[in-house]
Amino acid sequence: PSRINIAIDGPAGAGKSTVARLVASTLHYIYIDTGAMYRTLTMKALEAGLTAEDAEQVTRLAERLDITLLPGPEGQRVLADGEDVTSHIRSLDVNRNVSHFAKIEGVRSRMAALQRLMAQQKGVVMDGRDIGTHVLPDAELKIFLTASPRVRAERRFQELGENPGVTLEELERDIAERDRLDEEREIAPLSRAPDARLVDSDGRTAQEVADEIVQWGQQIA
Ligand code: C5P
Repeated sequence: PSRINIAIDGPAGAGKSTVARLVASTLHYIYIDTGAMYRTLTMKALEAGLTAEDAEQVTRLAERLDITLLPGPEGQRVLADGEDVTSHIRSLDVNRNVSHFAKIEGVRSRMAALQRLMAQQKGVVMDGRDIGTHVLPDAELKIFLTASPRVRAERRFQELGENPGVTLEELERDIAERDRLDEEREIAPLSRAPDARLVDSDGRTAQEVADEIVQWGQQIA
């Protein structure tokens, strides 16, 4: 079979990264978490004291920042200029700011260019918000993965571990706000590509969802 590209988009906490990782490992494809790239940029911008209003400076930072995604036994590691930021980019501060930085045109064009390079050889499973619509409009298989807001908040809550630092209700509000910003932004908003298959992960395990996507992938490849 030939190698294809698989795009998995959807709102926050729908299970995209878990599903994408499973699909990639079954097919021996490369998993690319594009949200991690926007998170890394956001973390670095906040560290530099920048806000999303500083579009020019943030764009320059995006253009010179070296973001490396490394596959590892416990999931993908993320390096920013060589420094491991894997857990740091999941902080509450990054969660609450990332959608504001992700609106900046220069940031989006830089990230999309990097993502297209990574997908050039085919055989990638890429998850994000705009992969099927903008980054890889020619992806052979597109999925739009959703789940109800409460289920999505519960999943993120569990990921935060013993000391979440927020209540489930606060988290649900944060997620709803992030989705609103991602859906309403001008450039490459979160939306379902017309040719994306809609998959609802409510009440299904990530493995079940991944198995279905793998089957579709094998039919196409
Ligand atoms: O996927 P994750 O929740 O880690 O993404 C974090 C944020 O990064 C999203 O809420 C969105 O603002 C931004 N993002 C984006 N385009 C992508 C992936 C993520 O704008 N392809």
